[in-house]
Amino acid sequence: MAQFWKPGTEKPRLLEDEDGGVVFLSSSFSSSSSGYGFASIEKQRQRLPVYKYRTAILYLVESHGTTIVVGETGSGKTTQIPQFLKEAGWADGGRVIACTQPRRLAVQAVASRVAEEMGVKLGEEVGYTIRFEDISNSDLTRIKFLTDGVLLREMMDDPLLSKYSVIMVDEAHERSISTDILLGLLKKIQKRRPELRLVISSATIEAKSMSNFFLSSKRRRALEGEELRPSLEPAILSVEGRGFNVQIHYVEEPVKDYVQAIVSTVLLIHDKEPPGDILVFLTGQDDIDAAIKLLTEEARGNGKTSSGLIILPLYSGLTRAEQDLVFSPTPKGKRKVVISTNIAETSLTLEGIVYVVDSGFSKQRFYNPITDIENLVVAPISKASAKQRAGRAGRIRPGKCYRLYTEEYYLNEMSVQGIPEIQRSNLVSCVIQLKALGIDNILGFDWPASPSPESMIRALEILYSLGVLDDDAKLTSPVGFQVAEIPLEPMVAKMIISSNELGCSDEIITIASILSIQSIWFSIRGAQKELDEAKLRFAAAEGDHVTFLNIYKGFLQSGKSSKWCHKNFINYHAMKKVMEIREQLKRIALRLGIVLKSCETDMQLVRKAIVAGFFANACRLEAYSHSGMYKTIRGSQEVYIHPSSVLFRVNPKCVIYHSLVSTDRQYMRNVISIEPSWLTDVAPHFYQQQRLNPNIH
Ligand code: CDP
Ligand code: MG
Repeated sequence: MAQFWKPGTEKPRLLEDEDGGVVFLSSSFSSSSSGYGFASIEKQRQRLPVYKYRTAILYLVESHGTTIVVGETGSGKTTQIPQFLKEAGWADGGRVIACTQPRRLAVQAVASRVAEEMGVKLGEEVGYTIRFEDISNSDLTRIKFLTDGVLLREMMDDPLLSKYSVIMVDEAHERSISTDILLGLLKKIQKRRPELRLVISSATIEAKSMSNFFLSSKRRRALEGEELRPSLEPAILSVEGRGFNVQIHYVEEPVKDYVQAIVSTVLLIHDKEPPGDILVFLTGQDDIDAAIKLLTEEARGNGKTSSGLIILPLYSGLTRAEQDLVFSPTPKGKRKVVISTNIAETSLTLEGIVYVVDSGFSKQRFYNPITDIENLVVAPISKASAKQRAGRAGRIRPGKCYRLYTEEYYLNEMSVQGIPEIQRSNLVSCVIQLKALGIDNILGFDWPASPSPESMIRALEILYSLGVLDDDAKLTSPVGFQVAEIPLEPMVAKMIISSNELGCSDEIITIASILSIQSIWFSIRGAQKELDEAKLRFAAAEGDHVTFLNIYKGFLQSGKSSKWCHKNFINYHAMKKVMEIREQLKRIALRLGIVLKSCETDMQLVRKAIVAGFFANACRLEAYSHSGMYKTIRGSQEVYIHPSSVLFRVNPKCVIYHSLVSTDRQYMRNVISIEPSWLTDVAPHFYQQQRLNPNIH
């Protein structure tokens, strides 16, 4: 096992010594979140750093179109500012205060926290909306939390977002693709609705550049000439708080296996350090599950440290009960270890954290317009993220952060800031949304950060091939408008629309529902063999999509039984979610004139509908490859079938994948076999005849 760092030889250093430094939170924080009586919650509210800025915030919102609030994570921005606004009357007269978040789980968590603080039932005065889940009431809800993506969708019905008096764009530093689109559009709306107030809030933002973005060029010129009234300039407020020092520890040598390093570090902290919970930053569900398994085993084998650890995961897709466990106070004498994705970096605050273990990585989306490949990659985080992560240890008292990378790496190699998502994403969804909102000149759109022209051209090309855009790059009627209306990726939406003509909409809507949740399998640690056997019971020769149909049928035949799910390693909660999504998609489809029709056993129709949406993801098996190597037909990129697919090792000649994940190789997840000739049938301009050389027939 690698030596990570030697206790006693570490070089403690204060975060404040670092370049720029991190501002810490106020020492007046309550360390206890127990006792959820109304009075105690009121006291907790008053202790939050933003409380002191209540009057200032309300004054600035009153007198400025845009107010930028910068404050450390946990200072109360998300939970308090909407309440301040409501108390000041911004939700009177049927108006609504909106607060957007990039992440679904954060929307749910903060909405329920705010409902609790206000002593109201979630879904009434305080509500939330995420895709496929609307816990709000159009008559009662005054404070509404929603993902930035959902607010963009609302613009399709109400382009000026007229019911909202204030829109708080939260976590703006994350620069998610939807946040950036939203900021560009809100700037436009403000011109038409001067009474609309915007609050842009974030943990670490370059407030000045965001402020410049909200100044129009005319205003900027006027400002330079000092003719401008102050209220036209965005206000910037920094929520200060004196916090606790965090000692940073680095490893001495680069770490080879960060899951193993995390386990050793957690056990070391548990063994040597005084009480206090541990927050571990890992990349995704797979890693987190692996770390939990290893940690549980090693803790068990290590008598001294085995007792007292409560080990919990934190990632999107957790059930409500699992989320509650993470947020609930740690019982006396115990130590909580929360192993999280970067959702706990700024979106969510856990009480009681004193130690942070930072792997130095997160899962990030990357898109290459040349190869037209987008995938999720485990990639190094930026210094800004590293500082945020460390800061989580200093909330309630002085803490420690253990970085599983060397100090030299941190100082010399880590990038200062992350790249905005819009500059590393496939822009297909983004382009169609803007087109649907009537923004025709997309390159000329006022972006907070401009996407690359290559990515834009790629997106336009695919949308044209999908029949969504016409020769003038306008939405086609009806297909383009229908695709824009369906709240799913354009390729999935096109698959649904094509299924109508093919007569298999019933099956395709089921497939689309299953594809829109993370996984329907229940992975029990250490039971991979049993899981594989369960998969075989449903496996279809055509591939994963048809396998999903078999599972769905089985679930219905069992009377939607949880026992049946358990027996077959299927996640019952996920299946219930699938049923809900399916109902909603059915309703949307009906509205678009798509009649639910089953093709019974004719799976060729189902596969053709998939091709109609996903033709761009077609790959062929390399003729003489025994290693299962495929190449994408369009870009000749090397890809492999993911071991979780029922087609793993089956290796049909020609396949279509739903998504790619990249680890040591590029793996295709959710794969279906197809006939190559279908590609030229549905997308002749994308696959001109000569491209399909004979060896794929
Ligand atoms: O948005 P910001 O990071 O500035 O802070 P916040 O999310 O409003 O959190 C303020 C306080 O509320 C923190 O002390 C959190 O611990 C607490 N909180 C909570 O206990 N449970 C939640 N679900 C959300 C926040
Ligand atoms: Mg927040």
